[in-house]
Amino acid sequence: MNARRRSTVQLGSRVAKAVAFAALAGIVLSPGAIAGGHKLAAATNTAWKSECGSCHVAYPAGLLPAASWRALMAGLDRHFGNDATIDAATGAAIEAFLVANAGRDRSKPPTAEPILRITETRWFRHEHDDVAAATFESPAVKSAANCGACHLNADSGRFSEREIRIPPSKP
Ligand code: HEC
Ligand code: HEC
Repeated sequence: MNARRRSTVQLGSRVAKAVAFAALAGIVLSPGAIAGGHKLAAATNTAWKSECGSCHVAYPAGLLPAASWRALMAGLDRHFGNDATIDAATGAAIEAFLVANAGRDRSKPPTAEPILRITETRWFRHEHDDVAAATFESPAVKSAANCGACHLNADSGRFSEREIRIPPSKP
C-alpha cells in the first residue's frame, strides 16, 4: 500500500512537469482512477463483458477517458485490424457504460486526438517502467495489451501488484 501511494504521488509530479510540455503528450488519467483498483473491478456490465471480453480481457472502463471510448466505439468495424462490429443497440449500451465509468483526462490542454490504446497512455508507461520491451514481446506475453499474461486476475478487473506473475521468457 505504501509503494502504491508513493507511485501515485510520483505520477502526480510527473503530470505537473508534463503540463509544461503539453503538445504531443499522452493522456494523463486522474491518478485516483488508477489507484482505485477496486473501482475498476466494480464497474461491470453484462454486454460489455461478453462482447468486449471475447478476444481479449474486457479492459476496465476506468483505464481510458470518455473521448477514447467514444472514438473506439465509433470505429469497431476497423478495430486494430479486426472487425468487432456489434448491433447498434448493444453498442450504444456498452458505450454508455464505458463513458459513465471512464477515467478522467487531466491532460492540459486536453489531447486533440483521443488515444485508443491503454498501452499508449502516459500512466501505463509509467506503471510499467520496469517491464522490459523484450518481456512484452516474449512468446508467453506477445503484446502489452495482453494484460492477463501477467495480471492473474485481469479478467476480474484486478491489477494489484500482489496479483502479478510475469511468465518466464524462454523461446
Ligand atoms: C474480434 C475480436 C475483438 C473484439 C470483439 C474486441 N476487440 Fe478490442 N482488440 C482486438 C485486437 C486484436 C486488439 C489489439 C491487441 C494487441 O495489440 O495486442 C484490440 C485492442 C483493444 C484495445 C487497445 C488495447 C491496448 O493496446 O491498450 C482496446 C481499448 C479495446 N480493444 C477495446 C475493445 C472494446 C471496448 C470492445 C467491445 C466493444 C472490443 N475491444 C472488442 C480485438 C477485439
Ligand atoms: C509483461 C507483464 C505485464 C503485462 C502484459 C501488463 N502488466 Fe500491468 N503491471 C506489470 C508489472 C510488473 C507492474 C508493476 C507492479 C508494481 O507496482 O510493482 C504492473 C502494474 C500495473 C498496474 C498498477 C498496479 C498497482 O497496484 O500498482 C496496473 C493498473 C496495470 N499494471 C494494468 C495493466 C493493464 C490494463 C494491462 C494490459 C493493457 C497490463 N497491465 C499489462 C506487468 C504487466
